[in-house]
Amino acid sequence: MGDLATQVAEARAAFERRFGREPQIIARAPGRVNLIGEHTDYNDGFVLPVAIDCQVLVAAAPRPDRTVHLYALDFEAQSSFSLEDIQPDEEQGWSNYQRGVGWALQEEGLDLMGLEAVITSDVPIGSGLSSSAAIEVSIATAWKLLSGFELDPVRLALLCQKAENEFVGANCGIMDQFISVLGQRDHALLVDCRSLDYQLVPVPRGAAIVVADTMKRRGLVDSEYNARRRECEEGVQLLREHISGVRALRDVTPQQFAQHAERLPPVIRRRCRHVIEENARVEGAVVALDVGDLASFGELMIASHRSLRDDYEVSCRELDVMMEAALKVEGVYGSRMTGAGFGGCTVSLVREKAVLDFRERVAAEYEAIVGVQPQIYVCRASDGAGAVRG
Ligand code: GLA
Repeated sequence: MGDLATQVAEARAAFERRFGREPQIIARAPGRVNLIGEHTDYNDGFVLPVAIDCQVLVAAAPRPDRTVHLYALDFEAQSSFSLEDIQPDEEQGWSNYQRGVGWALQEEGLDLMGLEAVITSDVPIGSGLSSSAAIEVSIATAWKLLSGFELDPVRLALLCQKAENEFVGANCGIMDQFISVLGQRDHALLVDCRSLDYQLVPVPRGAAIVVADTMKRRGLVDSEYNARRRECEEGVQLLREHISGVRALRDVTPQQFAQHAERLPPVIRRRCRHVIEENARVEGAVVALDVGDLASFGELMIASHRSLRDDYEVSCRELDVMMEAALKVEGVYGSRMTGAGFGGCTVSLVREKAVLDFRERVAAEYEAIVGVQPQIYVCRASDGAGAVRG
């Protein structure tokens, strides 16, 4: 997507201007796109995201005291706090992600040093590509690099999630932080969101991962997200009366669900059906990728979108238009909304040779119907968080 070398040079120059010295480290954490497995992570289920080549960078250097000075280059705003008493900043709301991570790392008993940092991002905000997870993981990585503490990568992802859940107050699952930490170049990650075991799955050769941003920024997402979580929990309560050993929707097979679905109220039934079938689709998708069957993979993406639209009801007109426009292009294996929904992006798997056609035709059709020019990116599956040189 963007050019990393330019972004690094800008972060470095901004740090020098702002703090009058060179940064000691530059930490990077990527955004993500989820290929399949949506709204399954908080149901102990399976997801298949990739880390992408857009990122948050943190140029940082330690301070001798325990204060933290943050400068957000993209909105030219600054926020400072002491590690002795980390409180939310109501005016500079953006800094609550970094504050929350500082709080969560200290809660873990880690010894943090004060720092000065410049933060810059080319992950579009509010577009479903996990800009917030990338922000959390980038500052956690910066602290890890500067303070030199040991921290298992999965634990680091969990602490970033804790920052978002308990400090920022957004009730997200683990997928976004997990892939931002553990992503691998040219691979998707199959994550079991219960055990947090994961497996690398090579992304298919000859096909591109194309992200199309509807430019609709997610509005309802927080309240609707929490409502879906509650509905899933209600489904678990009802299903466990009939099926033994059900702790989460992950424990219900499609066959068991078919036997007991009638007992659930209609809305709960649809929510559960999405999650249970989506978990099965992730398994199918991994098998399809394994044998290079992109056509089947694409069919599963399409089924996932329809289920998110009709059963889970987290799509919106813009996402549906974008997805349908993609399916009209020859060489598109599949397409679906990605992320929490209610706006943001679709992801499509497109034969390399058809990418140009996709860009032109999907953009034209979307603009003709919605009246807004979309952004279309070809993504590269990239590495998870770490230090960058520059
Ligand atoms: C958001 C959340 C994730 C996940 C997705 C939906 O991105 O942060 O944890 O629940 O929505 O799959």
